[in-house]
Amino acid sequence: MGVDLGFGPSVFLLLIVGCAARPFYPLPSKVDARDRLPLQTFRPYNIAHRGSNGELPEETAAAYMRAIEEGADFIETDILASKDGALICFHDVTLDDTTDIAEHKEFADRKTTYEVQGVNTTGWFSVDFTLEELMTLRVKQRYKFRDQQYNGKFTIITFEEFISIALDALRVVGIYPEIKNPVFINQRVKWPDGKRFEDHFVATLKKYGYKGSYLSEDWLKQPAFIQSFAPTSLIYVSNQTDLPKIFLIDDVTVPTQDTNQSYWEITSDSYFSFIKQYVVGIGPWKDTVVPVIDNYLQTPTDLVAKAHAHDLQVHPYTYRNENQFLHFNFHQDPYAEYHYWISKIGVDGLFTDFTGSLHDFQEWTSPLSQDDGNDDGNAAKLLHKIATLVSPYRKG
Ligand SMILES: *[C@@H]1O[C@H](CO)[C@@H](O)[C@H](O)[C@H]1NC(C)=O
Ligand SMILES: *[C@@H]1O[C@H](CO)[C@@H](O)[C@H](O)[C@H]1NC(C)=O
Ligand SMILES: *[C@@H]1O[C@H](CO)[C@@H](O)[C@H](O)[C@H]1NC(C)=O
Repeated sequence: MGVDLGFGPSVFLLLIVGCAARPFYPLPSKVDARDRLPLQTFRPYNIAHRGSNGELPEETAAAYMRAIEEGADFIETDILASKDGALICFHDVTLDDTTDIAEHKEFADRKTTYEVQGVNTTGWFSVDFTLEELMTLRVKQRYKFRDQQYNGKFTIITFEEFISIALDALRVVGIYPEIKNPVFINQRVKWPDGKRFEDHFVATLKKYGYKGSYLSEDWLKQPAFIQSFAPTSLIYVSNQTDLPKIFLIDDVTVPTQDTNQSYWEITSDSYFSFIKQYVVGIGPWKDTVVPVIDNYLQTPTDLVAKAHAHDLQVHPYTYRNENQFLHFNFHQDPYAEYHYWISKIGVDGLFTDFTGSLHDFQEWTSPLSQDDGNDDGNAAKLLHKIATLVSPYRKG
């Protein structure tokens, strides 16, 4: 990779010599927000799905920090609540599949069955544990075929801890939190102030300064997308914040959890005309954009064209490098999958379990511009470029 830094050899030497003697980057607290490398907005967003969970246990601080290191534009998380109303980063309503809860004998009697979105589900539910109790658990990999060596090393984190990871990054890194299972959470968790899950979700974002409509000056300083499968939650929070919202769309067989509407209803032109008053885009499951039969891609649907005609962005989920997930058309090559979705389908963002791969692909095919005429970020850009050059030597 040839990078013209635009500086003479002596300046370059100075920087290289300087970094051997002390930590390469200044401390986060010393970095002025104005000097951070800005969010790129010229190519589809690299959305780190539950952090770099292809490598590290999902939704942990380590997975989010790895995703930032690897070039994520946004770190993505699912927000649920504890029994005492703390907002946590966790995907499933039960703790069974991604923590060591089963080994905690003291919690054996908390296993129970609740109806979740019309299905009786049995397990240990986060809503039956206080935050303090949840913090005694350790997170593990969801998939057996992924690296197991980090199991048991990391705790669950709170929404606030997640936010501080993004804010401490040395470049602008956006956040992409989901209002997860709001119907279930509002049934099971009661806050002393009588407010709803969604109110606490938005209050947390406001507390840390997240505000502003899509691409506004405020937003670009601290970018955030609010996502949910529940349209009523998105409409409800739109009264409280103008942060951009993304309407998630599940498989064609799954009705919405709050309004019980079918896939066909919520992807119709008339529904897009309605929902676009509240959201800037949709987040569909990718097999509904390009149907799959026997692990081979079929003719793409008109979903992307239809959404774009309504000025709605499309951020499909989830891109995963492994053979267990890659369709045969891609010949075991995740870059081929990214190429197809970015160049042929024309999506605006991608939820990926492997942020590093997507970042490498985009830097290769559509690199960050060398000079965009904006002087503000030049010092940060220089640092970023040098960090890119030296990073292979800093690992291990
Ligand atoms: C869940 O189980 C309860 C208790 O057995 C039952 O009354 C209810 O109908 C079940 N709900 C579903 C959706 O199966
Ligand atoms: C939003 O606020 C307006 C004005 O206060 C109110 O009429 C409306 O019902 C609110 N909408 C929602 C979804 O809460
Ligand atoms: C949801 O809609 C389906 C299809 O219209 C209907 O059969 C079902 O009873 C509805 N479920 C609820 C909980 O209203």
